[in-house]
Amino acid sequence: MPDPSKRTICIGLAGFGNVGAGVYANLEKNADLLRERTGTEMVVKHIVVRDPAKPRAIEPPAGLLTTRWRDLIEDGAVNIIVELIGGTTEAFELVKESLLAGKIVVTGNKALLAERGRELFALAGKTGVPIYFEAAVAGGIPIIKTVQEAFVGNRIESMHAILNGTCNYILTRMSQAGISYEEALREAQELGYAEADPELDVSGWDAAHKALILASLSYGFWIRTEDVYVEGVSELEPMDFQFAALLGHTIKLLSVIRVDGKKQVEVRTEPSLLPKSHVLASVNGVYNAVLVRGDIVGETLFYGRGAGQNPTSSSVISDLADAAVALANGARHTGFVPHGLYGKSKPLEETTAAYYIRIPVRDEAGVLSQVTGVLGKLGISIRSAVQPDESFAGASMLVFTTHEVASGRMWEAVEAISGLDCVAGRPVWLRVESMND
Ligand SMILES: NC(=O)c1ccc[n+]([C@@H]2O[C@H](COP(=O)([O-])OP(=O)(O)OC[C@H]3O[C@@H](n4cnc5c(N)ncnc54)[C@H](OP(=O)(O)O)[C@@H]3O)[C@@H](O)[C@H]2O)c1
Repeated sequence: MPDPSKRTICIGLAGFGNVGAGVYANLEKNADLLRERTGTEMVVKHIVVRDPAKPRAIEPPAGLLTTRWRDLIEDGAVNIIVELIGGTTEAFELVKESLLAGKIVVTGNKALLAERGRELFALAGKTGVPIYFEAAVAGGIPIIKTVQEAFVGNRIESMHAILNGTCNYILTRMSQAGISYEEALREAQELGYAEADPELDVSGWDAAHKALILASLSYGFWIRTEDVYVEGVSELEPMDFQFAALLGHTIKLLSVIRVDGKKQVEVRTEPSLLPKSHVLASVNGVYNAVLVRGDIVGETLFYGRGAGQNPTSSSVISDLADAAVALANGARHTGFVPHGLYGKSKPLEETTAAYYIRIPVRDEAGVLSQVTGVLGKLGISIRSAVQPDESFAGASMLVFTTHEVASGRMWEAVEAISGLDCVAGRPVWLRVESMND
């Protein structure tokens, strides 16, 4: 029962899909707890959907439904708008109009923030209306709040993160069951972990959007999508997992965020080799994890479900509770505080790493010396080599790991090696993360 002694906070819920329905159901489920903990009465006043006639596992009260998100903006009683419609066009308009109308925004939309966060946070700063976005990164893991609040006194030195559950499931299955990328993706789709159109996930962009948000919060300037490096998982073969295992590693879609001595920020998302002994190597299935190094706190690790109805709605509700308390007590923040301490993104070709490179070659004399000759000419030194006896789809494989080298130099080497007559297909090259920085 509503408590008339508590301040009522009215919520406009835009989107009643996977996450929106979960938010509504869990707000109802734990209403008493939230009332006591926030000292407010949170009431959903409108729910926006595209198709009100659609059958739904969680039924919204019919009287709350509308197909016009502008109803939320136009209702003077609505204090907070929760954007869970997804996409970057109408969602942008909705968030912009909400801020202009003085209504606090809660969103889980990483694509929107990654692509248009700069404009939206500028508007939030101008209007003094905050945007909360805990659900946009790593689902149920409270990493936004951690960076913004718990680590406010730290300079973030680096983050290494597994941020996409679909890709992590696919890579875990390729590694543990030895199945192909296509089979693992099909499994993920059958289990409901991957969308019918999995492109945003498997291209690496979903994780890259989240990494961009984490880096922007950590370093105080909104990073442009063109300054992040992204590689997806679809080119990996089961043999890469076998070779990685021989080298004492496994392969994860890893997002790496770090700052160098010149305060240049590097943001990359790509399949990378990790030592099997490192704790991130045992983050399997649909789970996410974020390892943060701060200059005061040292190394910390966060682990949990990175997507799904309940974990994601847990984060949305946390934002709603913060917003309700802020409204009741008059405290506000805009969600992103720009500062000038770190100025620019590091040019991608200057970032350095050790590499794994697998080269399909013809079975003929002199191959090894031709390939190592290219590496030697470019000053790339080899750390280890594997030459399996068996052939793969008719080609022999040469597998090397290198010492640390600039990415631009490695790219040059891959181009030159690809052009050798003895090379029978496109080399696969992956970063090897030592996890020491
Ligand atoms: N799913 C996750 O695990 C997860 C995790 C973290 C973040 N997120 C983010 O949360 C957001 C929502 O994801 P979701 O999985 O809940 O999506 P979803 O299941 O596709 O739900 C989208 C909802 O928005 C409604 N909608 C879409 N466009 C609309 C429009 N133009 N006007 C009115 N209503 C509209 C849909 O209406 P109908 O119901 O009538 O179709 C549906 O209720 C996305 O930004 C996503 O990236 C999702």
